Amino acid sequence: MEIVVCKTKEEASRKAAAMITAAVQKNPRTVLGLATGSTPVLMYTEMAKAVKAKKVSYKQVKSWNLDEYVGLAGTHDQSYRYFMNKNLFEKIDIKISNTHVLNGLAKDFAKECASYEAAIKKAGGIDIQVLGIGSDGHIAFNEPGTSLSSRTSVVYLTPSTIKDNARLFFKGKEAEVPTRALSMGVGTICEAKKIILLAFGKGKADAVKGMVEGGVSQFCTASALQLHKDAWVFCDEEAASKLKLKKYYAWRSETILGA
Ligand code: GLP
Repeated sequence: MEIVVCKTKEEASRKAAAMITAAVQKNPRTVLGLATGSTPVLMYTEMAKAVKAKKVSYKQVKSWNLDEYVGLAGTHDQSYRYFMNKNLFEKIDIKISNTHVLNGLAKDFAKECASYEAAIKKAGGIDIQVLGIGSDGHIAFNEPGTSLSSRTSVVYLTPSTIKDNARLFFKGKEAEVPTRALSMGVGTICEAKKIILLAFGKGKADAVKGMVEGGVSQFCTASALQLHKDAWVFCDEEAASKLKLKKYYAWRSETILGA
């Protein structure tokens, strides 16, 4: 796991976006795994800037998103489909038919999840998976207590995640937040060839500490990334503040990126 410690979230977002831009320039048919939440928004803006500047094209890129709330249509302003359209897909030249988000209104969730996994496999697997991290260390919606080999399925949100995410719902009401979601599993996520996780702010410091320096445990599902051979964590100073070896990680990753 490489930890890139940046002064600001802007710098971290630029660096992460540059990694994705370079990968798509190299392979225009890159398969991306994408994430929602407030954290990747700046990175998506940077990716869009590169498209506008004609440095890169997403015309042949395919994408699969991590998760979606159960019960929300893609047109609902808090659905993750809506989020992706607004924050990335409408700003780059990707074909909307090449973008995939789990259907939270599917009649048969098991079937929806199985065909999602099959489609990813058919596309050759995910080349780069983007992730945020929940304040309890979750990735996608894989809450504490989820098996580290879980596959895409219906999952149940913890009260703490419902509280964290309520700020984005109608009048910030927790009762408005769906209690279930469809989510790629930890096992599914870890099959991506490369992983880019973003974490900003002091509210993520404990989660980052658990992910990087805690034991590999289903109590912090992000810790499964310790077993991944090409996982990159882009964080700001605040999110990295509780890491014991912060300076060493920063020096090492700078050396690798600069080489
Ligand atoms: C949700 C999403 C996660 C995301 C997390 C953090 O729970 N399912 O994928 O990482 O929120 O969101 P934020 O970036 O807004 O802190």
